[in-house]
Amino acid sequence: MNLLTVVGARPQFVKAATLSRAIARHNAARPGAAIVEKIVHTGQHYDANLSEVFFQELEIPAPAFHLGIGSGPHGAQTGRMLEAIEAVIGDEKPDAVLVYGDTNSTLAAALAAAKLYVPVAHVEAGLRSFNRRMPEELNRVLADHVATWLFCPTRVAVDNLAREGVARGVKNVGDVMYDGMLHYRARANDRALETAGVERKGYVLATVHRAENTDDPARLAAVMESLGEAAERFGRVVLALHPRTRARLIEQSITVPHGAHVIEPAPYLEMIALLANARAVMTDSGGVQKEAFFLEIPCITLRDETEWLETVECDANRLAGADPRRASSALDALAEARWRPDFSARPYGSGHAAEAIVASLLEARP
Ligand code: UD1
Repeated sequence: MNLLTVVGARPQFVKAATLSRAIARHNAARPGAAIVEKIVHTGQHYDANLSEVFFQELEIPAPAFHLGIGSGPHGAQTGRMLEAIEAVIGDEKPDAVLVYGDTNSTLAAALAAAKLYVPVAHVEAGLRSFNRRMPEELNRVLADHVATWLFCPTRVAVDNLAREGVARGVKNVGDVMYDGMLHYRARANDRALETAGVERKGYVLATVHRAENTDDPARLAAVMESLGEAAERFGRVVLALHPRTRARLIEQSITVPHGAHVIEPAPYLEMIALLANARAVMTDSGGVQKEAFFLEIPCITLRDETEWLETVECDANRLAGADPRRASSALDALAEARWRPDFSARPYGSGHAAEAIVASLLEARP
């Protein structure tokens, strides 16, 4: 099988690393039924610390095609990708195109492939925030509705698709990010704590990058206030700052709170170390919410809703939106040891999602 995998943004590199490793293992064991994977990098993320570092550190096969699309308004960025991916598919004539998650790269690749009658495999299918103002929600709904294989990470995702009348090709395989965590956890780079000048359990880790938070000055200021509450209670916040957020903070003259230590977006193995040793994490990232759960770290989500309901149900994750009072109440509960998440549930599979995906791709097409 000739498989074209399209990635473009940081969270996709992490997932692609795990699946590419499973493909390599499969090929080594069964050379007669090999999957030949070629990676297309759209260039949506182009800063070295959002892209290159991940390919090196996670040993992702080098992209066969680099489209160099870069940033831009949604229509322009997605449109440029669509045109460039269509050309690659035309030349390569793959048996399937594989996409991850919910970014503009996901949508462009899924649409380009479907229009050329090339079947699409969507990893992380079926997630919904039910908030159509999020670009990610539009991207994932549209990608799901043109996909042939819909690889769901959770039962909730399967149910979401069923409600939209999508059942064919749907499979709950578990979460490739959980597979990834089992692999990378032991490789976490603890030097990150030293570099950030923090000690184990002596800080709260924070990441902020969602357009809904960064592009609304009132929300961005409120999110910074919430981080200030954390710094007040736990002494220090380590804020791994996405370039989009950095730019908006400067444009809007919003300052980071006293006690917040700003670092560059962390390479994956440093991020895992910072997360595993934090008192708690405050984030608007989907991936970080789950990684916190895997590492049994309480998470305060700086959004009004989440796709990862399982983490909320067992009280591992509390939604604070951009409301410093809600953040404060969760931080108080944590400081006073009244917040005791139950991490015993295993809603994200058994750590073999990538193998299940490889096996499915080689079976008869749904
Ligand atoms: C994208 C995804 C989001 C994902 C996130 C992970 C979409 C709609 N959003 O958002 O779902 O959670 O990636 O990080 O696809 N920029 C740089 N350097 C880079 C990349 C971006 O400086 O390497 C800046 C640019 O100013 C750009 C802005 O960040 O305009 C936003 O980039 P964008 O492509 O919209 O992606 P993210 O915000 O990262």
